[in-house]
Formats: sequence, structure tokens, C-alpha cells
Amino acid sequence: MEISITKAKPAQLKPKPQDESQLGFGDIFTDHMFLMDYEAGKGWFNPRIEPYGDLCFDPAAMGLHYGQEIFEGLKAYRGKNGGIYLFRARDNVARLNRSAQRLCMPEVDTDLVMEGLKKLIELDQEWVPRSRGTSLYIRPTMIATEPHLGVRPSNTYVFYIIIGPVAAYYKEGLNPVKIWVETEYVRAAPGGTGEAKTSGNYAASLLAAEKAKEKGFTQVLWLDAVERKYVEEVGTMNMFFVIGDEVITAPLTGTILPGITRDSVLRILKGWGINVSERSLRIDEVVEAAENGSLKEAFGTGTAAVISPVGQITYKGKDYVIAGGRMGELSQRLYDEIVAIQYAEKPDSYGWVERIV
Ligand code: COI
Repeated sequence: MEISITKAKPAQLKPKPQDESQLGFGDIFTDHMFLMDYEAGKGWFNPRIEPYGDLCFDPAAMGLHYGQEIFEGLKAYRGKNGGIYLFRARDNVARLNRSAQRLCMPEVDTDLVMEGLKKLIELDQEWVPRSRGTSLYIRPTMIATEPHLGVRPSNTYVFYIIIGPVAAYYKEGLNPVKIWVETEYVRAAPGGTGEAKTSGNYAASLLAAEKAKEKGFTQVLWLDAVERKYVEEVGTMNMFFVIGDEVITAPLTGTILPGITRDSVLRILKGWGINVSERSLRIDEVVEAAENGSLKEAFGTGTAAVISPVGQITYKGKDYVIAGGRMGELSQRLYDEIVAIQYAEKPDSYGWVERIV
């Protein structure tokens, strides 16, 4: 399918941010976006790049009422020799298609989406920031558009990709964050949509996150919905704990997001010969380890957050300081390694990085 391109007129072009230290996360978008439409019986059609702008929906669009909405988060980096590099983009499209299956939405063609994404970045390449720690955040999104109020899958959808320059997701940057272990609310139950990247999971997380924020915490650590015993994930990241010589992260049993950074960290750690387990981890085990000194580090992983050290967890009213409230040695080593691969400063023995410009 041919992707048509309508460039923004000079008067539509937006001013680019001048100060990369002020980028923040998620507020700035480039001049163009990629879109395509879907109709049952016809499939995806009209792939196009257009000036960035408002979408027009019928107020009865099903995605607005029943939550048929999925998205992805990935990044492109300005790396070696000024090139622009994508990190594991095809894995994100594969995950989008798994989310689509779970939400009864149509899958996309990976090659077509990759082509659209590359053309979009090429067109808006001057927006890709240059300083270390910054990148171009990419947000592919699909939403049900059919105007109908009966509860069933929509017959029409729009898929779009918007992009924008970002810096660190948390205001703390690489400084350790404080996490509240949530014992009242839950994010996802077995059999639910926890492993899909869909808006409802994030909506469900907001109340607990707001309450935690009021108490001075950056994020919530979710426990399993059935027993409130096992560590699951943090709102925007998968979690890793270093206990003794074992690095532990929750297994993919359907209630947590199968993070691409999580997978990258697992593979890097295995490559380093580090003892790493995907296993159920009781919050009591974490607390015991914090008390007896064997909890050495904790960190979160995510596209937006990269590697984010956790300096404190608070559970049932008790604070547990981790790694003296500083970034641990392994967290730092992992951060350095993954960032060096993403910016193409290091040979990529995994086949994760693709130069596009
Ligand atoms: C990401 O890490 O890219 C995410 O999508 C998490 C968050 C910003 C919602």
C-alpha cells in the first residue's frame, strides 16, 4: 500500500524547543503524524502522513464509550554520527497486535507500520533531540470509531502514530524514586486485560497513584489482585529486585505488561552470567530482605522510564530504604549498557537497533 504524504505548510510548522533541558515528557509533538483507517470487510486503508492536528470523532464513537483503545510506547535516539536509531520497534508492533487480539481489534501489518513510522521520523527528523538522556518518543495508538452504543466490537478503527521529543519521564531523572506498596486497590486480575497495553489499565491505576502522590510517592507498586501477596509491577514500569545474588522480576502470567525494556534487561543480565529469575516474589520476602540487609537494589524498567532506581518502598506504614537511597551498582551498569546500545555507541550483538536516518 502506498503511503501518501501531505506536508505541513510553512505557516503550520511549529517552533521547535530551544532548550533540551526543559523537554519534560509527553507535552511536545512534531509537525506531522501517520494515520490509517479500518473498516470490517475492507481492512486497513488510506495510510497517510498529514500535518499534526485534531482527530474528528462522532460523539458515539465506541472507543470513547467502551474502551476499545490500545497504544504503544517506543523511542528513537539521536546516536552515533548524528544518525537516528530505532530500538526494538518491531517488538512493539508485535505487542500492539497482541493487545489488539485481546481487545477484539484488528491487527496491523508490521511492515506497513514500520514504513509509515520511518517516513514520519524522516520527515520530522529535525525534531529528534541531541542531548544525552533525550529521545524521540513514539506513540502508536488505535481507537474504535464506529458510532454505536451497543456493547460489541466496533466495525471501524483509526490507527495513528504521533511523535515528540522527550527527556526523563520522572522529574527525579536518574535519582531514586519512592514507591508506595498498594494494599487496597489492584491494577489487574488474572484473566483480565493486565498484559494488554490498553487505556483502561491506566485509568484503573489513577486513584491509587493520586493518593500515593499526595503522600509524597512517585508511583505505586501493585500487588497481585487475588492474595495481595505477590509483587507485580509499578504503574509505568516493570520491577526488578536484587536479593542476595539473585535478580528477580515477576513472571508474565497475564496480569503485568510484557515490557520490552524488561525483556532487554533479562537478556543483558543473562549475557553477563548474572543469576536472574522470573518468579513470583512475595512482598514479605522483599521486606524481610530489606530488614536483614540482603535487598541490595530495586529498579524499574520501561521505555519511558528506561532504568529507574527505587530508593525507598513503603509497605503497611513502614519505610524501607534501598541501596542507601542511591542508585545501585547493577542499576547503573544496566542503565549504561542499555543506553549505549540505544544510542548505537556500542556494538549491538542483539539485533535490537536499526538506523533509519
Ligand atoms: C512507556 O514506557 O512507553 C509507556 O507507555 C508507559 C507510560 C508512559 C504510560
